[in-house]
Amino acid sequence: METVTERLLPDRQGIDRAAALLRAGGLVAFPTETVYGLGADARQGRAVAGIFAAKGRPHFNPLIVHVADLEAAQRYGRFGDDALALAGAFWPGPLTLVVPLRAGAGLSDLVTAGLPTLALRVPRSEVAQALLRAFDGPLAAPSANPSGRISPTRAAHVLDGLGGRIAAVLDGGAAPVGLESTIIGCLDTPRLLRPGGLPAEAIEAALGYPLTPPPTAGAPTAPGQLKSHYAPEAPLRLNAEAAAGGEFLIGFGPDHPEAALNLSPTGDLMEAAANLFEYLHKADATGRPIAVAPIPMHGLGLAINDRLTRAAHPRGD
Ligand code: TXA
Ligand code: MG
Repeated sequence: METVTERLLPDRQGIDRAAALLRAGGLVAFPTETVYGLGADARQGRAVAGIFAAKGRPHFNPLIVHVADLEAAQRYGRFGDDALALAGAFWPGPLTLVVPLRAGAGLSDLVTAGLPTLALRVPRSEVAQALLRAFDGPLAAPSANPSGRISPTRAAHVLDGLGGRIAAVLDGGAAPVGLESTIIGCLDTPRLLRPGGLPAEAIEAALGYPLTPPPTAGAPTAPGQLKSHYAPEAPLRLNAEAAAGGEFLIGFGPDHPEAALNLSPTGDLMEAAANLFEYLHKADATGRPIAVAPIPMHGLGLAINDRLTRAAHPRGD
């Protein structure tokens, strides 16, 4: 998908153009105070799938959803007392909170990688704030670099890595913090999930007590380390050409007209990625064993197969 990446200035015209591109399902990199993020409308599954395609990520990991303020954040996540206290103390700022997802809030399943929890952040950067207000919706945004490369702190870094693969970059100069946000899990007791731009000491001072270490030793910084990935209850069989003995078949491409659901009847991997988690949930809800048709191993097919392999072997993960 070669395209000409627009370089937008952070003035009224540039902000409005960026918001219009996002509304149309495009990918727009934008500055935050931590690093540049690669934004997509978190409600549009195909747009979110585009993030993984542009970054060349071989796996799906959950993404941080950026919103303008706490009120907007509460539309998508449920905030307990600790989460409210931390949001009150540090938002807007370099802090991401993982909270229970509000079901039915309209976010793409690809944003949460099918998890019942959601990472939310209110950035402080003026340009990010202006963009979020103009766009008036939730923006999924990982760092705006190709998978495995260093996070970008300038528009030029973004263009070096992703130029020609994304619709636009909003140039807001250097990102002042230069380190990703600190991620705190607020599910039971507050846990440090990823150290980052906001020191843990500041967070502990605001809470008045120490943070709990993450459930496993070492923060889950590498996406593959995240243990809580969604896996269906039912057995899952991969590379299935047809349904056998009561299986619920999830098809791909035109060769599976008998499939109960088809990830993409035309064989479009972006569409398949956008449907993946929702269809796994639907199949799982039937209580039947699940079979999935072969998915080609190129482009987003790598990430789809990675996710399906983990779902098929939940305990080996
Ligand atoms: O500073 C930042 O946080 C930047 C800017 C653009 O906001 N964004 C960023 O996103 O670093 P990313 O995609 O590179 O990192 C997101 C990380 C994931 O790797 C995962 O570890 C964690 O956030 N995460 C997201 N949702 C989660 C969830 N539901 N539970 C646990 N961890 C989650
Ligand atoms: Mg990153």
